[in-house]
Amino acid sequence: MNAERAAEVLRTFAQTGCRGHSPLYEQLCSRMAEDEHILKIVQSAPDTQPAPNLILAAVHCLLLGGIRHELGAYYPSISESPLPPESAFNPFKAFCLEHESAIRELVATRRVQTNEVNRCAYLLPAFCLISKQNLQRPLAMIEMGTSAGLLLNWDRYSYDFGTGKSYGQPSSAVNIRTEWRGTKKPLQLESLPVIADRIGLDLHPIDLNDEKESLWLRALVWPDQPERMKRISNAIQEFKTNPVTLLAGDGLERLPSVVDSISREATICVFHCHTLNQLSAERRSDFNELLSKCSKQRPIYELSAEWIMTAQPELNLIEWENGHSKKSHLANVDHHGRWVDWKHE
Ligand SMILES: C[S@@+](CC[C@H](N)C(=O)[O-])C[C@H]1O[C@@H](n2cnc3c(N)ncnc32)[C@H](O)[C@@H]1O
Repeated sequence: MNAERAAEVLRTFAQTGCRGHSPLYEQLCSRMAEDEHILKIVQSAPDTQPAPNLILAAVHCLLLGGIRHELGAYYPSISESPLPPESAFNPFKAFCLEHESAIRELVATRRVQTNEVNRCAYLLPAFCLISKQNLQRPLAMIEMGTSAGLLLNWDRYSYDFGTGKSYGQPSSAVNIRTEWRGTKKPLQLESLPVIADRIGLDLHPIDLNDEKESLWLRALVWPDQPERMKRISNAIQEFKTNPVTLLAGDGLERLPSVVDSISREATICVFHCHTLNQLSAERRSDFNELLSKCSKQRPIYELSAEWIMTAQPELNLIEWENGHSKKSHLANVDHHGRWVDWKHE
């Protein structure tokens, strides 16, 4: 990535990802785009990784890890009475210069593995739809790019769609909150789907029992979004009570044997949220071929929530059978699940 491209990526991220949601990151990214030295660090991010998230998480990780610096005074996750974001860039730059080697080390070795629990806001209605279409047979869920696996516990969380009714498990400490757009109410079956399997695949699953990995997961949450921070902490607790199977390795390589291991009684759902952008176009096409091939053995539902070449993330359901696919556009969604514009009738 050359400097011009790095600056463009930062500006786009500031405008489409952060504006209206994270004043601190909007400020930092717009100023980073103008700074030659910071751009060099941004350029060092691997091509498959969203560079702004990676650099910002590296800095946040060092601060959360205990480095004391005047920059901490601008981070609501560090300071109880944070200073205004408008003046955060100079201390940010000073921090990056002082800790450049540690930042570069994190950028070179870590990945953007944000596990955004609020994305369950659209998984619940989508899984209910799949279950309804399949006479409520048990669902076997396989997540490609699972990070710490927190989305696989979607049926153990409580849901507020702003409709005045509680969904999911109302007593759960993990509260999924979203603005439900669209004319149709979220689909809720009389009882939640029965889950036969929960299996997460990741190049590098986050081990929540490892302090450094747990810290990295929290560092990926934006520092001025306390609701997200609280939600992920509660979801981590839930995971420790109800862990799920996480398998390390390239998801494309592991998928066929995982599919083979699933009971014939279950409906297979392969789902992926904000993961395929970390695959090259060629690997994405390999993934399609793989699903097509697996579907020659048995039908597969693919639930895809991705943000690639579209104005906003899209939720699509692709039904694979005998090598062929049928796609239904279920919803347009916010990248952090803050709203769901449900399109499916
Ligand atoms: C941005 S995270 C999304 C995590 C989760 N799906 C969510 O939405 O909260 C993307 C994940 O995909 C994983 N990933 C990227 N390429 C992969 C591959 N080829 N096989 C398996 N996992 C992969 C990354 O390691 C990362 O944990």
